[in-house]
Amino acid sequence: MLDLTINKVHDEARQGEAFAPFADDPNQYKKRFYIESYGCQMNFSDSEIVASILNESGFGATRNYEEADLVLLNTCSIREKAEQTVRKRLTDFRKIKEGRPGMLIGVLGCMAERLKAKLLEEEKLVDMVVGPDAYRTLPGLIEEAETGQKAVNVLLSREETYADISPIRLDSNGVTAFVSIMRGCNNMCSFCVVPFTRGRERSRDAESIVKECRDLYNNGYKEVTLLGQNVDSYYYVNEEKDEIVNFANLLEKVALISPDLRVRFSTSHPKDITDEVLHTMARHENICKYIHLPVQSGNSRILQLMNRTYTREWYMAKVDRIREILPGCGISSDIIAGFCTETEEEHQDTLGIMEYSKYDMSYMFFYSERPGTLAARRYTDDIPEEVKKRRLQEIVDLQGRLSKESNEKDLGKTFKVLIEGNSKRSDNDWMGRNSQNKVIVFPKENYNLKKGDYVWVTVNDCTQATLIGKIQKLEA
Ligand code: SAH
Ligand code: SF4
Ligand code: F3S
Repeated sequence: MLDLTINKVHDEARQGEAFAPFADDPNQYKKRFYIESYGCQMNFSDSEIVASILNESGFGATRNYEEADLVLLNTCSIREKAEQTVRKRLTDFRKIKEGRPGMLIGVLGCMAERLKAKLLEEEKLVDMVVGPDAYRTLPGLIEEAETGQKAVNVLLSREETYADISPIRLDSNGVTAFVSIMRGCNNMCSFCVVPFTRGRERSRDAESIVKECRDLYNNGYKEVTLLGQNVDSYYYVNEEKDEIVNFANLLEKVALISPDLRVRFSTSHPKDITDEVLHTMARHENICKYIHLPVQSGNSRILQLMNRTYTREWYMAKVDRIREILPGCGISSDIIAGFCTETEEEHQDTLGIMEYSKYDMSYMFFYSERPGTLAARRYTDDIPEEVKKRRLQEIVDLQGRLSKESNEKDLGKTFKVLIEGNSKRSDNDWMGRNSQNKVIVFPKENYNLKKGDYVWVTVNDCTQATLIGKIQKLEA
């Protein structure tokens, strides 16, 4: 498998078997739903909104799809492989449905939006197709589907932000949570299907965001990640208060909830992240010093074909600016190998900009043509698959070295770490992250710590993906 990603956030292979933790009597609900999420964090966050809407209309959650009355797949269209994964998964449900004809199957999210009613023709077992802006209509659509009709709602909205819905946290560690702050994207990068599946950009009411973050903090959460396809273009006009809230203002409002609440955000488009945002990050210790700044390509001609609106030099200057205002800030990237007409030299430019930016981590993909996008209409997908894969492998190998070097630089340093839970390998070790978003594993020793606590950890070893340390001192 070459479509490698070092971390998994944008990885369509990440399957979220989500389970709403309703601790109540299992017989309390007449019907049960099962939901699985694919794709980006926005989809995982949307599934929590869906869980809330279904719960309001009397559905309980189950981890076991075999006993579900309603099976939902929240899908991703970003690359062809993401769609294939979902189609394969649907075949698993076919067998179950043969034995339980009353069971309903719904496809939600980006594939629903991209394929619309066509999906019902292609996948006969599907009963409902529901786009990302239509989740409020789910209860009605379920009723319709229960009568044996196929139910479809793929209307996109210019306003929907689900601002008033309190998400039900699925599979939560009780420490970190995603909070969506905007929906849609207006950027029209030529390779990207998101503007078609998610619609126009709109920002969520700032007060509802702050309230959701405060509620999370009051419920013991210690970290929120503000989510959007392009968070830096957040812009909300509060007419009642005659107040304009941009992304820097919003970050500050959330950071002020408590110095004990960490704030992260994703994703920043390099063209939109401003000095004001960087200075706001510098002012607040609890805004994490980590920026995901997808470059996509290191060559200006390819960047122009991609419609990214910046050049190689402009991007490099942005990296310099981040390092100047926020020394020690972590930077990660998304990279696409083998975009239409990319030459060997242009590919070398991508490797060069990776070296220059010294990414701590990257999500790396080879180009996958998406029907209907600008690139699909205008350019030929002319790089042979072996060449794409070879270039991707060079990118992956280089990132491996950069990640290792970045981790080696941290040897001997002491970081404030938020404990997220036991390490995967051993219950005797904690796992947490530092401000730069690096994972640190360290022995619990005899300290009386618990997840959600902060602790100072000195790094004494590392792998390419993880820092390994020892508790230095407790948080004062
Ligand atoms: N809004 C985010 C990205 C969302 S999609 C941003 O602009 O940064 C996540 C990543 O998937 C993109 O950054 C890009 O690297 C990759 N991607 C998007 N479309 C793709 C395609 N057609 N083929 C391969 N990778 C793609
Ligand atoms: Fe896609 Fe570009 Fe929008 Fe990101 S900014 S979602 S890559 S169109
Ligand atoms: Fe995929 Fe849609 Fe997210 S296409 S990456 S789930 S916005």
